[in-house]
Amino acid sequence: MSNKIQTLSGYIYEYQRSVQDPEHFWSRVADSFFWHKRWDKVVEWNFEEPRVEWFKNAKFNITENILERHLFIMGDKPAIIWEPNDPDEPHVTLTYQQLHDEVCRFANAMKAQGIQKGDRVIIYIPMVPEAAIAMLACARIGAVHSVVFAGFSANSLSDRINDCQAKMVITSDGNFRGSKKIDVKSVVDEALETTSSIEKVIVLKRTGQEIDMKDGRDIWWHDVIEGMSKVNKAELMDAEDMLFILYTSGSTGKPKGVVHTCGGYMVYTAYSFQNVFQYNHGDVYWCTADVGWITGHSYIVYGPLLCGATTLMFEGVPTFPDPGRFWAICDKHQVNQFYTAPTAIRALQAYGTGPLEPYKLNSLRVIGSVGEPINEEAWHWYHDHVGKGRCPIVDTWWQTETGGILISPIAGVTPTKPSYATLPMPGIQPVILDNDGKELTGNSVEGNLCIKYPWPSMLRTTYGDHERCRQTYFSSFKGYYFTGDGVKRDEDGYYRILGRVDDVINVSGHRMGTAEVENAINEHPKVIESAVVGYPHDIKGQGIYAYVICDMEGRTEENLKAEIRETVNKIIGPIAKPDKIQIVPGLPKTRSGKIMRRILRKIATGETSSLGDTSTLLNPEVVEAIIEGAF
Ligand code: WTA
Repeated sequence: MSNKIQTLSGYIYEYQRSVQDPEHFWSRVADSFFWHKRWDKVVEWNFEEPRVEWFKNAKFNITENILERHLFIMGDKPAIIWEPNDPDEPHVTLTYQQLHDEVCRFANAMKAQGIQKGDRVIIYIPMVPEAAIAMLACARIGAVHSVVFAGFSANSLSDRINDCQAKMVITSDGNFRGSKKIDVKSVVDEALETTSSIEKVIVLKRTGQEIDMKDGRDIWWHDVIEGMSKVNKAELMDAEDMLFILYTSGSTGKPKGVVHTCGGYMVYTAYSFQNVFQYNHGDVYWCTADVGWITGHSYIVYGPLLCGATTLMFEGVPTFPDPGRFWAICDKHQVNQFYTAPTAIRALQAYGTGPLEPYKLNSLRVIGSVGEPINEEAWHWYHDHVGKGRCPIVDTWWQTETGGILISPIAGVTPTKPSYATLPMPGIQPVILDNDGKELTGNSVEGNLCIKYPWPSMLRTTYGDHERCRQTYFSSFKGYYFTGDGVKRDEDGYYRILGRVDDVINVSGHRMGTAEVENAINEHPKVIESAVVGYPHDIKGQGIYAYVICDMEGRTEENLKAEIRETVNKIIGPIAKPDKIQIVPGLPKTRSGKIMRRILRKIATGETSSLGDTSTLLNPEVVEAIIEGAF
C-alpha cells in the first residue's frame, strides 16, 4: 500500500483532504486493493435510520487481498509466527503461501460440511494459528464468523449461538494457558444443550485431553481437511455483505452482535494499521490481544495480513513461565512493533524492572496501547523501560463498533503526550457535545465524544435488531454517532479519553455492562436485588463492585459471596466475577424507584464526603448504612 503518512505536515495535509473531500480521499485509499468490480459510489449514508454503505456495489473477496495479492512477490514471507504457551515447544511459522493453502483447504472442508455464503459460524478457540485460518476460511466462502472469546462460559456461548442462529462451531479440545490446561470442548458441549441451530462442530486437537465426540455432529479438524484441495475459488462478495459479527457489552441487556461488512472494514483496518504502526516490509509486528476481541480481529488478523505484514500470535500469558515472557518473545522474534493493553503493562510494572533486565528489546521501534485509558505512571514506565525512551507510544482509541483505530498518534509522526490518544486519523471527524447536544468548538473543552461523519469500518447494525443499533448509538445526539466515552480536547487540540459516561465498565480492558453483571448476580436464588458499579483498580483499571440485597437465611456472608461469584463465573465467565461484594440492607433509590448509581459509584470510590444531596431519595437512611459497611 502506498498511502503511508511520514511527516507531521503530511498528516495535516492528508487530514484536511480527507475532511474536504472524503469520497475522493477514500477512493484513492481503496484503489490499492484488488476488486473484481469497482464501486459505483464511495459512500451513501444517513445517521437517522442509520444507513451507511461504503464502496457501493463493489465486488471482491477480502481473502484475495490478503492471500493472492501477496503471493506473487512474497509467497515465502512469514504471514503468521505463532509462539506457543510453553517456551520449550517450538514456534510455528506460516508463510503467505502456506496460509493460502491452509485457508483454502479449510474453506473447502467447511463447504463440504454444508456451510454456505451467509451462514453464521462460531469460532470458540484459543490463540492458535487455526483461529486465523478459520476466520479467513469463513471470509473466503462468504460465511459470517463470530468469534467468541474462549474464556466465556457455556451460557454466554449459547446466548451468542442462539442470537445469530449459527450452523457450525469451530473449537478445540482444550487450551494451554500458563500452567493451566483449560477445558474448551466440554464448554461447547454444555452450551449446545440449549441451542438448536448447530449442525456440525469441528474440533482442533491442541491439548490431547480426553473429550466426548458426538457421532454425526463432531468432527476433528485434521479429519475434516484430509484430502481437501489447496485450491479454492473465493466467493465474490459485495462490499456491504457481512464479514463478521462480534458480540460486545453495552449499558443495557445482553451483549449485542456488532456487524461489520467486507469492503469498508478491509480498507480502514489496512489503512490504519499501516499508518499508526508505520509497518515496513520485513518488520515483525506483535499484538498481544486475543482474537476473541475486536483488537485481535482488526490488528492481529485482518489489518496486518492485508498489508502483507508478519503478525505474531501468542498463545500464553505475560507471566508464564515468568514475568519476562513478553520481553523474551520480543527478543526471540525481533519484534519491531509491540501492541498491548494498559492492564498488562500495570501488571508487569508491579514486578519492577528486574524481569526486563535479561533482554535487549533493541528491535522495538513502536509500542502501542489499547483498550482503556493509560494512566501517566504506566505510560512513563512503558516508555522508559520497554521503549527505552526511543520508541513512540501509540495510545490508540477505538471500539468494537468503530472496527479500527480512530484517534491515535501516527508513530514517529505525531508528537505524543502521556495519556493522550492525541489526534484523529484522516477521515475521522470527532466532535465534543455537551449534555444538551451542543457542539463544543475550540480547544480546552470536555464532553461527550461523538463522530459526525461516517468512516469505512463503522458498524452497520446490531445483528437481528437494527432498532437497538439506532437507539444505542444514534439517538442520544441526533445526527451523530455517540461513542459512550467522555473526552477532553486540551489547549493544543489533543484528545484525552476520560472513560465511559454510560453504564459500561472496562475491567482489564474487557468491556462489561453493569446490567449484564447484575442480571447474572440476580440468578442466585438468595439474591433479592443488586447494583454493580466500577471503581478504580490499580491493575485492572476498573474493578467490579457489587452491592447486593440478600436473603441471608442459612448462609454466612462469606459463603454467600463465594456462591455469588461462582454464579457470575458460570453465567458470564471468570472475567466478570465481582472484585468486591457488599451485602446491603437496601439500595438508594429515587422516588420513581430508580437506583442512584451515582451515589453507589462514589461510595465504591471512597468519595463519601461528596455525595451531594441525598435527602430527596426514597430511602436516604440506607446511604449511611452502606457507607458504614463499605470497604
Ligand atoms: C475504551 C477496544 C482510552 C473506551 C478496542 C472504549 C480506550 C472502549 C482506549 C471500547 C484508549 C479503548 N484510551 N480508552 N486508547 N481504547 N478504550 O469495544 O472506553 O473492547 O469505548 O474496543 O474501550 O472497548 P472495546
